[in-house]
Amino acid sequence: MEIRPIDVHDDAQFHDFYVIERDSLLHQRPDAPVWSEREAQVMFRRKELSEDWRAFGAYDGDRMVGAAEYILPLLDNTDKVYLEVHVAPQHRRLGIGSAVLSHLVDLAKVDGRSVLLGESNIPLDQRETHPYVRFAEKNGFATASVELNRELKLPVSDEQLTAWEQEAAPYHVDYQIETFVDDLPEHLLESYCYLSNQLALDAPTGDIDFEPEGMTPEVFRVRQAKAKEQGRTVFETLAVDRSGQAVAQSTLATSSDDPLRVSQWGTLVHRDHRGHRLGLAVKAANLRALQQAFPDRQKVRTSNSEHNDHMIAINVKMGFEPVELLVEFQRKLWGSPRSAGC
Ligand SMILES: CC(C)(COP(=O)(O)OP(=O)(O)OC[C@H]1O[C@@H](n2cnc3c(N)ncnc32)[C@H](O)[C@@H]1OP(=O)(O)O)[C@@H](O)C(=O)NCCC(=O)NCCS
Repeated sequence: MEIRPIDVHDDAQFHDFYVIERDSLLHQRPDAPVWSEREAQVMFRRKELSEDWRAFGAYDGDRMVGAAEYILPLLDNTDKVYLEVHVAPQHRRLGIGSAVLSHLVDLAKVDGRSVLLGESNIPLDQRETHPYVRFAEKNGFATASVELNRELKLPVSDEQLTAWEQEAAPYHVDYQIETFVDDLPEHLLESYCYLSNQLALDAPTGDIDFEPEGMTPEVFRVRQAKAKEQGRTVFETLAVDRSGQAVAQSTLATSSDDPLRVSQWGTLVHRDHRGHRLGLAVKAANLRALQQAFPDRQKVRTSNSEHNDHMIAINVKMGFEPVELLVEFQRKLWGSPRSAGC
């Protein structure tokens, strides 16, 4: 078996890579959300300053049997690399996944990355026993954080949205709630980037130590252009304080390649502005805007650390129900007493 980089601009190679990832992600979870091929192509083909996305294939002769993603953050968290290994369901338990992972670990050493991170979606009751957890442990990774994927059935009634908005309103009279689609005005960009960059730091992430992200207005613009090219519509609701700074945000995204689902991305209230029900306010307003534009969507999916009490309280209030776990694995190559490898 040979493991080599994929030419992501070669449609045939990329298609093989995509099909392995898609089939792997849908294995035993046929209703799970997966990116369309177009969405994946844009992620790998359009370069950006903040991340380097690389794709690998494991070949048995001419046939691709395994696929992997190797993503290097470039502006922040530069001790880390995000890995994803997928083996076609019919070729599992033959050592392919371990060989691919070992190849990526060697690459991470060459790239000077000491913290290797991966993740798997697994059923709610199998956090210690699932094959993906066993695979990770066998390869020197440990469970570092457990998130719950939750889903909310749509539509939520106008009456319910109004009730949430009215519940929150008396607490945030000093803030303006504003919704934007696919873009943000120039005057809010700096404060939005600062806010958004805190998410990695402020949300609980178990044993994984993140530093704030380094998104700049320039990076935001590139990501926004990529989302458009992917066929996504992005809804951003912000709370703006009296000085004109964005101090709370929530993002929802749709894909034109998936007529049923909506993805909840980040929600964050600035540390100095908590306690004003801004989390509920921005989430309710964003959902209202989304439902007006896409009345046929059937569910929203979100993911939060199981220890993120404040976010979970809002999501539970809104009716999000747990569907599966998202387990984050970590392996440290050097520089930590918890190091599992090398
Ligand atoms: C996880 C995954 C990559 C494993 O690929 P694979 O080629 O089947 O893995 P390997 O054959 O190298 O297995 C290595 C070890 O993992 C463990 N393992 C893997 N599958 C297992 C299973 N079904 N039951 C029990 N243990 C299992 C075993 O310890 C195995 O060693 P052994 O066969 O000597 O007992 C594959 O199942 C997959 O694509 N899963 C979906 C994506 C994912 O979650 N990737 C991991 C995080 S990035």
